[in-house]
Formats: sequence, structure tokens, C-alpha cells
Amino acid sequence: MSFGRKRRNLGKSEKIKLTKDSYSKAKNFLAFVKPYAPIYFIGFIFLLLSSGVSASLPIFLGQILGAESSEFNTDWNFGNTDNIYGVLSILAIILPLQAVFSFFRIITFHHVTHNSIKDIRKKAFEVLIKSPMAYFDTSKTGETISRISNDTEQIQETLTTTIAEFLRQVIVVGFGLVYIFVISAKLVLIMLAVIPVAAIAAMLFGKFIKKIARSAQDETAKSNNIIEEALVGIKSLKAYANEFIELKKYSSAVTNIKSLNMKVALWRGIFVAFIVTILVGAIVFIIWQGIEMVHSGGIERKEFFQFILFTVMLGTSIGSLPDLFAKIQKSIGSTESLMNIIQQETEKIDTSKPVPTNKFLKGKIELKNLNFSYPSRKEIKILNGLNLNIKSGEQIALVGSSGSGKSTIASLLLQFYTLDDGAIYFDDKNAKDYRVNELRSQMAFVPQEVILLGGTIEENIRYGKPGASYNEIISAAEKANALEFINGFPEKFETVVGDRGIQLSGGQRQRIAIARAILRDPAILILDEATSALDSESELAVQDALNKLMQGRTSVVIAHRLATIKNANSIVVMNNGEIAEQGTHEELVNIENGVYKKLSQLQFS
Ligand SMILES: Nc1ncnc2c1ncn2[C@@H]1O[C@H](COP(=O)(O)OP(=O)(O)OP(=O)(O)O)[C@@H](O)[C@H]1O
Ligand SMILES: [Mg+2]
Repeated sequence: MSFGRKRRNLGKSEKIKLTKDSYSKAKNFLAFVKPYAPIYFIGFIFLLLSSGVSASLPIFLGQILGAESSEFNTDWNFGNTDNIYGVLSILAIILPLQAVFSFFRIITFHHVTHNSIKDIRKKAFEVLIKSPMAYFDTSKTGETISRISNDTEQIQETLTTTIAEFLRQVIVVGFGLVYIFVISAKLVLIMLAVIPVAAIAAMLFGKFIKKIARSAQDETAKSNNIIEEALVGIKSLKAYANEFIELKKYSSAVTNIKSLNMKVALWRGIFVAFIVTILVGAIVFIIWQGIEMVHSGGIERKEFFQFILFTVMLGTSIGSLPDLFAKIQKSIGSTESLMNIIQQETEKIDTSKPVPTNKFLKGKIELKNLNFSYPSRKEIKILNGLNLNIKSGEQIALVGSSGSGKSTIASLLLQFYTLDDGAIYFDDKNAKDYRVNELRSQMAFVPQEVILLGGTIEENIRYGKPGASYNEIISAAEKANALEFINGFPEKFETVVGDRGIQLSGGQRQRIAIARAILRDPAILILDEATSALDSESELAVQDALNKLMQGRTSVVIAHRLATIKNANSIVVMNNGEIAEQGTHEELVNIENGVYKKLSQLQFS
């Protein structure tokens, strides 16, 4: 409990700290846009052109609206702005141009966005699967998944639409202001009295809304996590009739999200109401002033209409700016959290080429002075100066009480975690000096808890050796004593095993995992309770296959049932992260008061 709370606090302080350098984080994101920069640049030119047309429309429309009767003659005098048909002829040219500009603006922006998003998604997934195990011990999968999908969507919207819209409005506002200034500085001053108020309010609002919107996003991720945990553990949930409690948990989470979102809505509402009141009031006031000026001859009728049209356009543009600004801010937040994932430290894995399929290790392993504690629980020492030598081709068994560190040793051999001190040598070379995935390519691992992929049995076995032929798969299944039950299914090897392999029994899943290991034909075999879920008869048959498989390769076998490891070259008895005894079965049963002796008396009598 205290553990969970600590973790959450950590997450929070991390976020606050990062908000300060959000912008520099967002800058890192530009690296993903850079390869497409030339096209983006072209897109911006189109944006400039189409915005220019939009911004100048009030000039022409004002001329038409405010035309004197003398200007209504029927000569199509191209481009003559003293003649209404002349103005219309200009519009007839620039409106189709505007359509073309907009079309290409959209195509180019989308091209750049979807390509960058593709790259960033690829990168995020790559970093995730290359993240060290310690990352998965502390981060929640649901939260990470929804973060990646929400954040990329947010960025996508910004790159395709929001930035363009924002720039367009800025151009419109800039151009419009200059134009109306030329028409009448006096009227503009009235307007300018309103704008700074709106701008400052927009900025404050943007900051504030970003904060609440972000906590709403975080809460959403957390609530997704509740769903995920419930579904993953659905069996326990149902068996313990915890529907009520889970529902309550979820309901309070979504209620919280709703409240946060309503808070966002409330402030957005207040803001919009405020802005609209000021702007509409100003427009009415300006129209009134304008009409006075037309009557007194201060400005022309045309100019008055242009002024009105520009003012209305400026009003909507300025009104939309805060919203757009808030959206951009929100994307900067999204970029920041995506960048946090992308800049995470990863394992030394080279994914530019497939891992070697040949056996390059002989399989000599030395564990020298291993000191280890799990990164998520630094204060608890799991291994304290452990030493162990395994000769090439030797079978080593690890036995000992639950929690004594056996699986931990398996994880360390697989380089899932970094050691606090000491080193592991493979063929006299420090594990650190290998590429991690190359090293792992030499091992096969049957974990204590087998989790299969959602696909078919065939796909699951082939996971051990992606290029394997169908015959190799059948042969591996046969050796793992799995062929019989597989052929018992109507779809045989095409049988879908369900999410995580849920449609198979524990023993069936173990045999699939063993078949996978057999197919891999590794230099080093690591079995963590690989036959624990099998009945005695199956175990015997599988054991036979495993014994054959272990011939001539280094094997580390973790077992509770001593019968399965009796013939190992060396049996290591673990106790509290230390080696209590080591020797052959015969040697160990002869140690007076020995741990192993006691265990074997319990099991063999
Ligand atoms: N991912 C983890 N993060 C933090 N602590 C862990 C983690 N995995 C295991 N531990 C702790 O490390 C210790 C050794 O666990 P380990 O899984 O190696 O035991 P084991 O000997 O394999 O036990 P068993 O026979 O029950 O499988 C335990 O105290 C356990 O709580
Ligand atoms: Mg274990």
C-alpha cells in the first residue's frame, strides 16, 4: 500500500519538474518533423497565400456592399475597383485560387503530420520494448498505452489543424488591423482598447485550462488502468465477487474525470462569455461611431462597410485565438510526456538487423560476487555477494525456499536487470560487453508463469525460432509431449489460445513453452519450474525430453520437486539470496542437518 502511494507521488513531482522545460522537450519533437521540413515549408507558403486571400476578402466585399449607384454599370471592366463588375471579376479569379491553395495546404500539412506521427509511434514502441525490465516493474501498462495513443492524437490534431488555424488567424488579425488603421485610426483605437484585455485574459486562461485539462488526462489514464487490471485479473475478480468494489473504484475515477472536465468547461464558458460580451459590445459601439463618421463625411460608405466586415472578422479571429492557444499548449504537454517515454533509457539492443541464429556461445557461465536489489525496492537486498561457476554443458539445479532468489538469478542471467555490484561472465567475457539481444539469442527460457501470445499454437511455438519450418514445429511439439493434446483440438496447430493463452490449461501452456525452447535449440537453457503444472505422467515424459534437450548444453533448472533434478551435475541450495549448500544429490543428502537432506526426506519418504 505505502509502496503504491510512494510511486504515485514520485510520478507527480516528476511531472511538475518537467512542466518547466516543456518547451525544450517540445523542441526535441521537432527532430521528428525535420525530415519533412521542406514539404512543411511549402505547406506554409500555401497557408500564407490562402490566409492572404481570406484576409483581403472584406476589402472586396466592402466595395460591393458600399458601392454607389454610379458603380453599377454593366461593363465587365476587369480589375477596375470603381466598377462593381470589375471587383467581381477579381473575386472570380482569386476565389478559385483560394480553393487550390487550401487544398494543397491541407495535403502538405497532413503529409508531414502523418509521416512524423508514424515515425514517433514507431520510436515510442521501439523505446518501450527496449526499456529495461525495471521500467515495467513500476509503470502501469494501461497508462502507458493510453498516454501514447492520446498524446499522438493530440499532436496530430495540432500539426494538421491547430497550428494552421492559429497562424491564419494571426495573419487575418495582423492584416485586418493594419487595413482598418488606414481607414480610420480613431475607430481602431476604440478596438485596441479591447484587445489587450482579451489577450491577457486568454493567456491566463490558457495556463489555467492546461493545468486542469492535464489532470483530467492523467485521471483518464488511471481509470483505463482500472479497466485493464480488472480484465487481466477477471478470474480473481469474479471468484472473490469483487464486482461491487471494482465498480465503485471505477465509478469514483470517472466521476472525478467528469468533475475535472466540467471544471474545464466552466472556465471555458466563463471565458467565452466574457470575451463575447466585450467584443459584441465593442462592435456595436464601433458601428455606431462609424455611422456618425459616414454622416459627417469622415469616411466613405465603402470604407465603412470594409471596416465593419474587418471588425467582425477580427472579432471572431481574436475570439478563436485563446482556444487555439490552449490547444497548442495542451499539445506541448502531450509532446512533453511522449518525449519522456521516447527519451527513456533503453537496453543495449540493436534492432537494425535480426539477431544471430547461430550458436556462438559455448555456455560457460560465471557469476562473480553478485549483489542485487530490485530497482523498485532498493532497500531490500536480494543477492549478497553470490558466486557460482557453471561449466559449459553442465546442468545446474537451483532449489530452495520460496522467495530465496531463484527466479531472480534466472532474470539476471537473462540480463533483465542491472547488477548493483559484481558481474556475470559468459564464455569468460563480461555480459556487459555483449549486445544484450545477441546474448539472449543464445538462451531459451521457460518462465515460472507462462504467458502465451494471443495467436495460434503454431505461432506460439514458432516464437522460439521465427524462421522455423512446420515440420520443425511439429517435432518440437512432439518432444515437449504436446503433440497429443494439440492434435486433440479440431483446429490442431491452428487452435487460437486466447488472450495470454487463457484457453489452455497450465500444463498445456507449459508444454507449449517447452516446445518453444526445444525449437530454439539454445546454447543455454533456463527452466524456471518448467514442469510444475504437469501431472506426474506428463512430467515424466516431458522430463525425458528435457533431459535429452539438456545434453550438451548449459542448463539452469529451477525446481521444487527434487526428483526432477536428482541427476543434475550440481545442485545449488538457495537460502535468503545466498548459497547454503552445493553439490551432487549424493553429496547433499549426506550432509548432517543439511537443508537439502531435510527437503529430500520430506519429498522422498
Ligand atoms: N520484480 C520484482 N520487484 C521487486 N521485488 C521482487 C521482484 N521479483 C521478486 N522480488 C523479490 O525478490 C525476492 C526473490 O524472489 P524470487 O522470485 O527470486 O524467488 P524464488 O526463489 O524464485 O521464489 P519461488 O520459489 O516462490 O518462485 C522475493 O523476496 C521477492 O519478493
Ligand atoms: Mg521463482
